[in-house]
Amino acid sequence: MPPENPRRGMPRLYKGKTPIMLQTERHFFAPGRVNLIGDHTDYNGGLVFPAALNMGTYLAVKQYDDADSCRFVSENDSAEFLIRKEELSQKRKIWVDYPIGVVKEFTDRGFPVSGLQFHYRGDLPIGAALSSSASIEMVTAVALNALNGSPFTMLELVQMAQHAENDFVGMNCGIMDQFASGFGKKDCAIALDCNTLAYEHVPLEMRGLKFVIANTNKKRGLVDSAYNQRRSECQQALEIIRAHRPVDCLCQLTMDQFDTVATYLAGNVLKRARHAVRENENVREAVTALKVGDMVRFGQLMNASHATLRDDYEVTCPELDFLAERAQQFPGVLGSRMTGAGFGGCTVTLIAENQVEAFVETLGKAYEKRFGLRADFYVAEIGDGAGGVMNAEL
Ligand code: GLA
Repeated sequence: MPPENPRRGMPRLYKGKTPIMLQTERHFFAPGRVNLIGDHTDYNGGLVFPAALNMGTYLAVKQYDDADSCRFVSENDSAEFLIRKEELSQKRKIWVDYPIGVVKEFTDRGFPVSGLQFHYRGDLPIGAALSSSASIEMVTAVALNALNGSPFTMLELVQMAQHAENDFVGMNCGIMDQFASGFGKKDCAIALDCNTLAYEHVPLEMRGLKFVIANTNKKRGLVDSAYNQRRSECQQALEIIRAHRPVDCLCQLTMDQFDTVATYLAGNVLKRARHAVRENENVREAVTALKVGDMVRFGQLMNASHATLRDDYEVTCPELDFLAERAQQFPGVLGSRMTGAGFGGCTVTLIAENQVEAFVETLGKAYEKRFGLRADFYVAEIGDGAGGVMNAEL
């Protein structure tokens, strides 16, 4: 039996997969993330506050017999993909597009990829808004970078991974997920300004509290198109505002400044922009609250964030609302919100450690009764960003 990987798994309320030993040459890991506050602000040039998880995607890379092909396999999917060099630019509309998009980024920069086998294993719930896709992209990026003698910086790898997702996969995401996966630091959240890419690691001094993630396990359909639509509504808002006020992105506005131009906006375009500006202010305040240890305020801001994601951005769903709103009422809870893109996926709740068990049991039962679905709960453990791992860690 290989030793238990110290980086994997969160303390358990949920049973994950058993780690296995892969007989390969080089091993890499990239984490998923939980966003504590600041959703749908990244592509509006705003602030986000994510943290890398201890769960993510492992990759083993070794030589492949056919020098003109690559082989992609995943333990989360029975299908395997043997892809010839010349077919590497074709989309398949399945998970393998994430690594292939990254392969294309390297190829386009003069680092062709061939004759390799990529073997993936993930321990994140897939499609649950914890950045399983970004972790596949980032683990591929750090692996190809290492195998090529590290020509790119971590920031370049993050940007290449984001570009792969925008350009190849067709999801017009911002930079938050890839950044968090690349720049994560143990027991810290990342205060990132997505406009300037300035960032700071903020230690998570939890003072007897925990962040608990609850996965709705609701199947998310058409997230990419709904997400891209929100993004274009924000772009419309920006263009209208620009006719009246010089501004590079929505999140450059304070709420007071926004109020002076809000009269030019209407309907969904108004609501989307209003969320982005308010959420950005909430993140700024939340980061300060965390730094001074005002966890009560941090929790209130989480609740406020959920409310505008629900009412203005309209990216929650009954399952997310139920979990967040019930959590907000639960003893020992300081705040609860959806995390990530929305439309399903997970909530994150700030709760007193001694209430976690009761919370999981009570909320889990109530959720199952209401929706006939089982929610999974994880106590978030915050880990380091993407990189190589030793065999012993697998
Ligand atoms: C997805 C995207 C991110 C970000 C979040 C919402 O996770 O990949 O870029 O926009 O949604 O905050």
